[in-house]
Amino acid sequence: PAVSANDDLKALIRTIPDFPKPGIMFRDITTLLLDAEGFAACIERMAAAVNGPIDLVAGIEARGFLFAAALAAPLNAGVLLIRKDGKLPGATIAEDYALEYGTDRIAMHADACAPGARVLLVDDLIATGGTARAAVRLLRKAGAIVSQVQFVVDLPELGGADALREDGLEVTSLVA
Ligand code: PRP
Ligand code: ADE
Repeated sequence: PAVSANDDLKALIRTIPDFPKPGIMFRDITTLLLDAEGFAACIERMAAAVNGPIDLVAGIEARGFLFAAALAAPLNAGVLLIRKDGKLPGATIAEDYALEYGTDRIAMHADACAPGARVLLVDDLIATGGTARAAVRLLRKAGAIVSQVQFVVDLPELGGADALREDGLEVTSLVA
């Protein structure tokens, strides 16, 4: 069988069992970030997978920020921050979501994007999809057009990417 081109990235991601809770296999991308070639390859592959022109890259706190920020310049786009609630200084809109290990609320500045802005949503990892789906709802509430969502890592057995696809979104990831 053919070896996936993304196996080189997979080898740079470390698994920490039982973090942050017993039973969770935590996929740690800090080791990928430490590798200059690996991180650069990651950004190149994400940029190459972007489908159509976009105005903004939205990143989800905290690890999603790293990939959104690095993608912005090659895509000639700005960066929109989706943060945990209570962190942004201006007027915000918010969405609640369930996480693989808890619940949380994310927010964005209500005036961060013009109605009709084409926004690419980016995060480091998709598990249940609760975070990304809440982010899509949030961006759409703000008037954004969201048609594609990108992740470095997909945990397919948790069903998040399939749920996003059922919502009609194009989902791409580098490593499963
Ligand atoms: C992680 C990851 C995604 C989310 C995925 O973030 O970076 O944002 O979980 O899980 P889901 O698909 O089940 O919603 P986390 O909430 O751990 O925050 P962090 O990036 O600030 O560590
Ligand atoms: N976010 C949610 N589930 C995760 C996992 N298993 N590893 C890393 N980040 C996560």
